[in-house]
Order: sequence, then C-alpha cells, then structure tokens
Amino acid sequence: MKILLVASGAREHAIASALARSRHRPEIISVCTTNNPGLKKLSRSLHVGSLLDFPWVMGIAKQVKPDLAIVGPDDPIGGGLADLLEAEGFPTVAPKKSLARIESSKGFARDLLKKTVPNSVPQYRVFTSYEPKELNKFIEQDLKGNYVVKYDALRGGKGVKVSGEHLATIAEGMQYAKECIEEGGRVVIEEKLVGVEFSLLSFVSGTQVVDMPAIQDHKRAYAGDTGPNTGGMGTYTDCDHSLPFLSKKDLSQASDINRITAAALLKECPEHVEGYRGILYGGFIAVADGIRVIEYNARFGDPEALNVLPLLSSDFVEICQAITQSTLTPDLVRFEHKATVCKYLAPESYPVSKDEKGAVVSFPSVPENARLFFGDIAEDDRGILHLGGSRTAGIVGIGESLAEAEKIAEEFCRGVQGPVRHRADIGTAPLIDQRIAVMKNMRTK
Ligand code: AMP
Ligand code: GLY
Repeated sequence: MKILLVASGAREHAIASALARSRHRPEIISVCTTNNPGLKKLSRSLHVGSLLDFPWVMGIAKQVKPDLAIVGPDDPIGGGLADLLEAEGFPTVAPKKSLARIESSKGFARDLLKKTVPNSVPQYRVFTSYEPKELNKFIEQDLKGNYVVKYDALRGGKGVKVSGEHLATIAEGMQYAKECIEEGGRVVIEEKLVGVEFSLLSFVSGTQVVDMPAIQDHKRAYAGDTGPNTGGMGTYTDCDHSLPFLSKKDLSQASDINRITAAALLKECPEHVEGYRGILYGGFIAVADGIRVIEYNARFGDPEALNVLPLLSSDFVEICQAITQSTLTPDLVRFEHKATVCKYLAPESYPVSKDEKGAVVSFPSVPENARLFFGDIAEDDRGILHLGGSRTAGIVGIGESLAEAEKIAEEFCRGVQGPVRHRADIGTAPLIDQRIAVMKNMRTK
C-alpha cells in the first residue's frame, strides 16, 4: 500500500517511523518543506516544496494515487488540503477545512465550546472592530486586568500574548489587539487562567474517540519555564498514561471534553456527514476547581507525537485506516505502559536569532531505549548534517519511570556535538515536584 505523508519536520519523522513498523509495510511518499534526512530514509521518495502550494501537492498525489494520506502540519490542514485529497478519492487522516476551524479560528473554537462545555471555557469576547472604550472596559472591569489577547488565525503558535508575561500594560494589550484586528479582522480577548497545563490528544473518526497518553509540553525557551515561547522545547508522558499532578477526575473530564467536541463538530458541520477524521489535540489547564480548555489543535503536536508514537504497540496503519473508514474502536489502539521524556535540541540562539544556521552537528549512535527524530536539519552530499534556524531534533528517552526516561534523553543530548542547546530541566524531579506542589496549593486553599 502507498501512503502520502505531508510533512514539515520531526513530528512527521515520528509518524513515518510508526508507519514503517506496520505489518502492512507501506511505501511512504513524503512531501516536505525541507529535505528531512529522517523522512528521506523512511520514504520511497521525498518531494521538497511549499505545503501551501496545493496544485503542486495535488499533482504529486494524483501521480502517486495513495491508498491513504496523512497531513501533519497545521497550515495545509487549516487551508483545506484534506478537502482536495478526499475529493480525488484519497482517504485522508486530517480534518476538512471547516472542521479544522477548531484550530484555525480561536473565535470559532471558543463559541463552539461555550455552547457544549460552558464550564470549561474562560470568560471571553470576540472583537471584530477596534472599539477602544469597550475593549478597555472588558479588560479592566470584567477581567480585572488579567487577560490574554489571541490572534484569531494560525500563527505558528505565536499569536497569543498574556498579560503580565508578554504584555506589561493595558495600553500594550490594547495595541496588540488593534494589530490583530487590522491584520486578521478579529481578535479574541479572554480571562487569564492560572494553573498547570497539559495536553490530551485523541484519534477521532466522527463520534469515535480514542485517547492517547496525557502529555505535558514546555513552551518556554529556557530552564525554569523562562524566556520567549517556542514551538515546544520538550514533553513527557508517564507510565500510567496520566501525569503526576493530575487527578483521575481531571483526566476523565479532559477525555469527556474531547468526546463532546468531536460530536459538536459533527453537528456544527453537517455538510461533512463523516465528521472530524484525524487527530484532535486538546490543550487544557488544571485550575483550582477543575480543568479548562486553553485551545484545540487539529493535528498531532510537535513534539507530542514524538512521545506517544514510539509507545504505540498496535498497528498505526490500521488505526489510520479505521479513522478514514469510520471503524475506529478502542481495541485498535494500544500504548506501552512506559514513561517518555522528549528534549528538543535547538540552535544555541533559537528562538531569538538564527546565528548557527548552516553549522555542522553530529549525533552519537542511538541506544535501544532512545529515539532521534530530525527537525530543521539538512544533510549534504557527503552525509554531513547542518543546522537550520529552527528546532533541530527531538530526542526521546523511554523508560520504566520518568526518572529513567529523563536520564536516557539527557545523556543522549549531552553527547550531541555542535552549537545546540536543550532544556536540561524537562522531565526532572524538581520540575515535576514543583508542578505537583502548585496543584496541591491551589486545591487545598
Ligand atoms: P495557544 O496558542 O492558544 O495554545 O496559546 C499559547 C499559550 O498561551 C498556551 O500554551 C498558554 O500558556 C497561554 N494561554 C493561552 N490562553 C490562555 C489563558 N486563557 N490563560 C492563560 N494562559 C493562556
Ligand atoms: N507542541 C505544541 C504544538 O504542537 O502545538
């Protein structure tokens, strides 16, 4: 069988690795933004170009005639590539454009959630024109100065600014809101939530929803959760598929919300009778009195996919087929009960500048209990690897405990040669204990 994989980096390297383990031994044809050496090795052919050049992508798809297509990144999903692939008869793991608005429009997502899970939604308003008086009143009086400004379209995870973190004064917040409206026509202003964030990703086919292990991401660039936001510097999952700071109730509420959201999307977009088909990524925050939804994504996370896919012990191709055939059932999805810690290596100056672009990087051999997934990295004719400007590679340690998984990932990272850095604190006991303490304090008050 032939699988077309629409890719941009390490997330799709992890997807291709999971596909390659299938008993169906698929031929993978990748279209990617870069000449990713990991994907190249696993693919029969790799085509490099812009994923938003839909005529180009569809030209390759029509030549290949895949039995299955998987779209990894947010931009082509949000732009409606799944609609085009399905229209040509290629079963696709990725939601159609109108269903993908759960990620591509924060206003759409908030309005849908408000209707279906009102208690999990912070106070918010969508502004479609710049009304300084109204905006100021909402921020100062209703939200008491604790607010978040969200650009209402895709912006590579960098469209959100939080008061007290990225916005020092209300005037700055108002200015950013104005910019969002001028650029995108809409802005979402919402209550700033305080708590501990986690993610729950589910395989979804219409109203059939099967969860993956819960994950914690670390968006900040530097140790101790400081510095600017990034695409994610690392992630971890635990052996019981929950997280050390979550209660059973928190996790089951998140699971219910993913289920309710999948059903709500089906109802909201009746033109697609098959409903949402793909990965639904719920971004949650555990707060004093339960959980709230921070955002939804319509795809695997990067690096979240790097943690969960190596743990998948059932056949990923069969899961993908079931998603596209509306036959998804929980027995098709099995994850090993192990812990994973992923640490992203990034150029030393990431995300501030791209000073190390082109520098040589080399990796030690990968031990059995570790995984190496390539991100923004290029291989030259002599097989030498060079840094791009963005995140270089995700290193995953797999162990019987978080401590073991962390040690494996950390040791591997320390063996990499080149001008790269990583967050040594991700997955360590002090950072995890601090999250447990935050939750305990918040909930015993
Ligand atoms: P998003 O792109 O919606 O995931 O937002 C990026 C980051 O902004 C999240 O991971 C949070 O850390 C933060 N954020 C978004 N919404 C809120 C909120 N309502 N309260 C506090 N932080 C938020
Ligand atoms: N790691 C966050 C994301 O993929 O959106």
